[in-house]
Amino acid sequence: MRIAVMVSGGGTNLQAIIDNINSGKITNTEICLVYSNNSNAYALERAKKAGIPTTVISPRDYEQREDFNKALLQLLQDVNPDLIVLAGCLVVIPEMIVEAFPNRIINIHPSLIPSFCGQGYYGIKVHEKAISRGARVSGATVHFVDTGTDTGPIILQKPVMIREDDTPETLQKRIMEEAEWKIMPMAIDLIANNKVRIEGQRVFIDGYED
Ligand code: GRF
Repeated sequence: MRIAVMVSGGGTNLQAIIDNINSGKITNTEICLVYSNNSNAYALERAKKAGIPTTVISPRDYEQREDFNKALLQLLQDVNPDLIVLAGCLVVIPEMIVEAFPNRIINIHPSLIPSFCGQGYYGIKVHEKAISRGARVSGATVHFVDTGTDTGPIILQKPVMIREDDTPETLQKRIMEEAEWKIMPMAIDLIANNKVRIEGQRVFIDGYED
């Protein structure tokens, strides 16, 4: 399975994917492209170190957002990955791309969807909201991307208890280490080995044991 990974920041989820491919935990998978909207994203350095082709185009390079969307679609169609992985990608994926790759785009969100997700819930804000709400548990979710925001079928989730002395930063770090970097590689391996089936809003996984 050929995957294109879309990033915007530090790329620790990308690194987890690279490491799990190299260790054999992710099978039948190669990263054919790492795309970013941000030329300063450290994720691009991680890709280059791993010998993975990279490309950068930003909405700022275009007068109209529609022109950026068309350029991004063309880029992805030229590469034609089997799966697109959003790993900390801050670019809003336009409907034309979701429709061009139905059930072939997955995203990692740092909460247990449907909690603390949707418009405005990204990055550290997610953890600020979880702590200020007094939640006892949060975690991470890998889901298919549909035309909504964090609304596609859920593939995997992993809970992380919130501690009373947690700050948004300590919670974010623990969720990345204990949840994100585990369930994103697992979801990719399951899809690469045809173990994932979607029925409406639900996902069924062959041989799944929690
Ligand atoms: C992660 O916290 C992820 O949940 C969110 O963006 C962050 C990306 O971090 N979508 P990194 O770039 O993978 O380090």
